[in-house]
Amino acid sequence: MLIPTTPIPNFIIIIKSLFSATNNIADIDILIKQKKHSRFYPRGSDAIASLSRKIGGKNPVVFVPAYFCNESLSPLRNSQARIVFYSTNMDFTPNWSHINELSKIHTPDMFILTHYFGEVNDIAGAATFVNSNNCILLHDCAHHSYIPTVISSSLGIVMLSPHKIFATSPLSIVTCDEDDTRYLPILRYCNFKKQDITWVTKRFIQKLFFNLLPCRLKAELPSLSSDYVAAELTEQKVSWLSLVFFSAILKNAHKDISARAANYRYMFERVLGAVDNDLIRIVSSQNLASPYLFVLYVDKLLHEKVYVYLRKKCIPVSTWPDLPPEVVAEPELFECAIHQAKTLLFFPIHQGVNKNHIDYMCNSLFEGIKEA
Ligand SMILES: Cc1ncc(COP(=O)(O)O)c(C=O)c1O
Repeated sequence: MLIPTTPIPNFIIIIKSLFSATNNIADIDILIKQKKHSRFYPRGSDAIASLSRKIGGKNPVVFVPAYFCNESLSPLRNSQARIVFYSTNMDFTPNWSHINELSKIHTPDMFILTHYFGEVNDIAGAATFVNSNNCILLHDCAHHSYIPTVISSSLGIVMLSPHKIFATSPLSIVTCDEDDTRYLPILRYCNFKKQDITWVTKRFIQKLFFNLLPCRLKAELPSLSSDYVAAELTEQKVSWLSLVFFSAILKNAHKDISARAANYRYMFERVLGAVDNDLIRIVSSQNLASPYLFVLYVDKLLHEKVYVYLRKKCIPVSTWPDLPPEVVAEPELFECAIHQAKTLLFFPIHQGVNKNHIDYMCNSLFEGIKEA
């Protein structure tokens, strides 16, 4: 059975929205809730870099959680930011004693609080920290379908990456209260980007030939550390075409969000009934309204074997893609992030996945664990 890695768009809606030639995003309120001032950026990682420069000037100091994908930090590194990694706990919350030690040495301009996998992280702790250090709080909601009210009603700027959740090409929304709008850089627009064309072509081929496509999943765990390639700082522009694609999905966004939540609940019930040992454990909480992936802890001894087994069965299970080299280099300090990178498995539960897919994933998971 082939399981789609990402949701495929409805091409009729996309084509209609192209002809109505609009980037009307009036429906964006369903995603951003109470925060009323929004701007668009090419991707979440670009938004983080642009914001940090606007807030902290030429060499901003940005506090970033250790459990962060290295690739997503490239724009921030290219913009000459000083990145200070802080350690996180096993429940993904910031390790405040480490952070308070760091703040004695570095004066932060921006503090990133990542709300992993559609959960809500320690907002109260982050608010106390940014207030006493006089810096800006950025809620990283890249893993959220929409901004939960508890985040949108709290202090700070919020970043969403809708392309990680919906069938749309890369785009990020940054939203904030009136007082913080001065920190949001205004980017120029271009008609389209190469990435939009690549995205739409790939999805079109997948739509037409999905069942005929051969299974091409690499069955090898990605390496924990990846190299960073420094690039020239180029002028960032927002693609008008990506906004058109985005506006096309907004009308049905609530259906996509409910489908993800229903898939999550179904998988949760199936896995929960089968977990009777310490080797696997469901990581996210049960009542997620805004799930990104189904996160499963699989003991270090089995993790790679189960991953390879599932990938060989064409299940697009994934792991955390990589960690910053600074984190990998200090295994004692960043023990939790490294442990999470070596033990978590992520299963797709997006709107393009159905119950048969989930049954297949669960049955294969149970077989994989037995084999391992
Ligand atoms: C936690 C987190 N924040 C930010 C990003 C960057 O998002 P984007 O892909 O929109 O650049 C990612 C990307 O995977 C992420 O996992």
